[in-house]
Amino acid sequence: MTTRRMLIAGNWKMNKTVLETAAFAAELAGRLGQEKSAGDRASADGQGGSEPEALICPPFPALSEAGRVLAPLGVAVGAQTMHEQDSGAFTGEVSAPMLAELGCQYVILGHSERRQFFAETDAAVARKAVAALRAGLRPIVCVGETLEEREAGLTAAVIDRQMGSVLTALTAPGTGNAPVGDSTKDQPLTGLPAELSRAELVIAYEPIWAIGTGRSSSAADAQEVCGRIRDLTRSELGAESADRVRILYGGSVKPDNLATYVAEPDIDGALVGGASLSAASFAALLTAAREA
Ligand code: PGA
Repeated sequence: MTTRRMLIAGNWKMNKTVLETAAFAAELAGRLGQEKSAGDRASADGQGGSEPEALICPPFPALSEAGRVLAPLGVAVGAQTMHEQDSGAFTGEVSAPMLAELGCQYVILGHSERRQFFAETDAAVARKAVAALRAGLRPIVCVGETLEEREAGLTAAVIDRQMGSVLTALTAPGTGNAPVGDSTKDQPLTGLPAELSRAELVIAYEPIWAIGTGRSSSAADAQEVCGRIRDLTRSELGAESADRVRILYGGSVKPDNLATYVAEPDIDGALVGGASLSAASFAALLTAAREA
C-alpha cells in the first residue's frame, strides 16, 4: 500500500488581512523553529514519523503575501474557491490559471459554506475539480451531510451523490478526459500537467453539523464515511489512484483531537477552520500530526 503523506490544511475562510497574514507567518516561524530543533533531537533519538504537509488557504487578497511569507516555512498555499472557466465575462470571479500563477498548489472546492451560501451545485464542483487539475492545482473537494440528512439515515446517499459527480467528471468522455471503462482505470486524465494525475485529488469529509460547532464526529463514524469515499474512488479511478488519493476529515478538529482521526486507516489528515487561525494552534496541529 502506498504511504500517503499526511496533509494538515487550514481554511481561514473570510478571515485575516494581508498584514494579519504576515503577522501569522512571523509567529509561526518562531514556533516552527523551536519545534524543529526539538524534532531534530527526536529524530536523532530515532523517534518522530514522516513530516506532515502543511497548507494554509487564506482569502484571495492575502494569497500573494501568504505565498511569500509561508513558502520559506515549508507551508503550501491554496485558495478557498475558484471559477470553473479559465477566463471570461464572470465579474468578481477568479480562475484556476490565475491561482496557479500566484503559486497556489491547492484549491478548496465545494466547501459546505459555498454550497449553502453561494448555491454551488455538485455539477459545478465537479467541473471545477477538472479545471483545477488541468491548471496544475490539487483540488480539495469537500463533501458531507447536514444534521437532518444524518438523522434521516441519508449520509451514505449524500456522499455517494457528491462523490459520484466528481468521479464521473474525472473519467467522463467528451471533456478530453480518459473514456470510461475498466481499461482506463489508473490512467491519467489527459491534458493534465505532467506532474499531476487524478490521484492528486484530495477529498475532505466534513459533516456540516460538525463545522464550527465544537461538535466533532466520532473517529469511528468519520472512518466509516472516509472508507466509503475510498471505495467509491477505487471503483471509478482504480486501485492505484484510490490508494494515493488523500482523504481528510474536517469539522471542529483541534490539536487535542487530531490524533484520533489520523489514527484511522482512511483518514490522511484534516481540513481545519477555527484552529488554523492562530499560529500557536496551527503549530500545535502540526506537532500533533507529526507525533500521531
Ligand atoms: P472548523 O471548520 O474547523 O472551524 O469546524 C472546518 C471547515 O469548515 O473546513
